[in-house]
Amino acid sequence: MGRHPGHAIVFGASGLIGWAVVDQLLRCYPETSTFSRITAVTNREVTFSESHWPEPNAERPKLQLISGIDLRHGDGVMLANSLKQAVEDVETVTHLFYLVFTAHPNGTEEVATNRRMLQNVIDAHNFLSPDLQFVVFPGGTRGYGIYAPGGVFTPPLTEDMVNNLPPEQAKTVVYPANRELLSAASKGRDWTWCEVCPDAIIGFTPNGSQFSLALHWAQYLSLYAHNHGTGPSNQESGRPAIEIPFPGSTAGANSLFSPASATKIARFMIYASLHSDICGGGQLFNIADNDAPCTYGELWPRLAGWFGLVGTGPAGDSQTQNNALAVGELPQGAQQLTPGEYISKHKDIFTQCGRSKAVDGGVGAGSRQLDSVGYWLTFDRHLSLEKLKKTGFEGSQDPVQGWLDSFQMFRNVGLIL
Ligand SMILES: NC(=O)c1ccc[n+]([C@@H]2O[C@H](COP(=O)([O-])OP(=O)(O)OC[C@H]3O[C@@H](n4cnc5c(N)ncnc54)[C@H](OP(=O)(O)O)[C@@H]3O)[C@@H](O)[C@H]2O)c1
Ligand SMILES: *[C@@H]1O[C@H](CO)[C@@H](O)[C@H](O)[C@H]1NC(C)=O
Ligand SMILES: *[C@@H]1O[C@H](CO)[C@@H](O)[C@H](O)[C@H]1NC(C)=O
Repeated sequence: MGRHPGHAIVFGASGLIGWAVVDQLLRCYPETSTFSRITAVTNREVTFSESHWPEPNAERPKLQLISGIDLRHGDGVMLANSLKQAVEDVETVTHLFYLVFTAHPNGTEEVATNRRMLQNVIDAHNFLSPDLQFVVFPGGTRGYGIYAPGGVFTPPLTEDMVNNLPPEQAKTVVYPANRELLSAASKGRDWTWCEVCPDAIIGFTPNGSQFSLALHWAQYLSLYAHNHGTGPSNQESGRPAIEIPFPGSTAGANSLFSPASATKIARFMIYASLHSDICGGGQLFNIADNDAPCTYGELWPRLAGWFGLVGTGPAGDSQTQNNALAVGELPQGAQQLTPGEYISKHKDIFTQCGRSKAVDGGVGAGSRQLDSVGYWLTFDRHLSLEKLKKTGFEGSQDPVQGWLDSFQMFRNVGLIL
């Protein structure tokens, strides 16, 4: 810190973390005039009025929004040309937040595509932005092998473990490739970088996100509450409580994990980027809302309660408990509709209630994987936050808050009932 105000560029600004990074920067985290400029880059069209970021004022950094940059196309030189034309003062960029991710059913191709996109961005900025100081990107607990049935390491998961991820898994995850790329590209340069590692990310996006569990469950819970004629006023009215079982198995409800709100991840990324002395050098930092792990079984009643429902334990699941399922796998012969099936069966209600945005702006292709969260994540996978704490970053918060804040935003913009 202490240099002239920064210019932050945020790639993937429409995604779960990216939206929150822009939001926090516009709210002047950590201080007014730390940044004077923000450039938010997306592929899909986003207009400011639909973004739900705070309105400009004299205190906030100046925002430039750029859509239509598909990073899969071309190379670093072509991207540099596009950015040079589109971005005001691109030569003044100091901090680069990279939150782009695209999923592909073939792991090898997923790694290759995502690696190429980051390479393009870094090549372009090495060419365009001599004042670049810091680059930060998110990994995830997939980098600790949680996509392997039963997981790989014994939790709490600590950052050094990623180096021991078995090669057959490492090659299906882009994070090791990103590390290699950034180490090589930063050599002999004036910028440094770090990676942050969240488990489930709880946050808001204005127009859906493939892997937003909070949005998926919020759509399910809001339709369920609507169909059962219940709402927050149910208790006062004296009508019977409407129960909704946890969409998963007992083991899925009871396993320990460490959720992170997108807002907190965003704040830490910004904090890290301003403390390159302690957070740079290619380090990895786990991030979560609270250093005490929690379970979906604890969260579920509090989430359901926001919709006037009573969240209960899993429906009968004795035959599924002991099977180790792979990522995206659902148990055979389940009686209940999954959240995704329920949403698709009832989605006309969104339109009937004037919430047509909820139909397009849902979780799309990620629906099935999100449906399976309560079934295949049956093992403890909580994170150690010891390294995070040593950076001096803010302390723990109630992990439910991020969900409830997101639910309120979804309701405000018409993504749920
Ligand atoms: N979701 C989770 O719970 C979770 C948990 C742990 C780790 N992570 C990791 O966090 C990272 C970000 O994930 P996320 O969930 O925040 O993803 P997300 O909400 O789907 O956001 C992805 C972003 O990437 C952009 N993007 C995709 N393809 C692009 C392309 N071809 N060109 C330019 N931009 C493109 C999207 O922009 P458009 O809207 O313009 O397409 C979007 O802004 C990933 O590395 C993921 O593995 C996620
Ligand atoms: C995945 O993609 C790679 C590279 O394109 C290819 O060699 C491989 O056969 C594909 N695997 C599957 C299972 O389709
Ligand atoms: C929202 O996303 C959907 C699906 O990607 C897209 O078809 C639609 O145009 C987007 N709407 C807006 C307003 O960005």
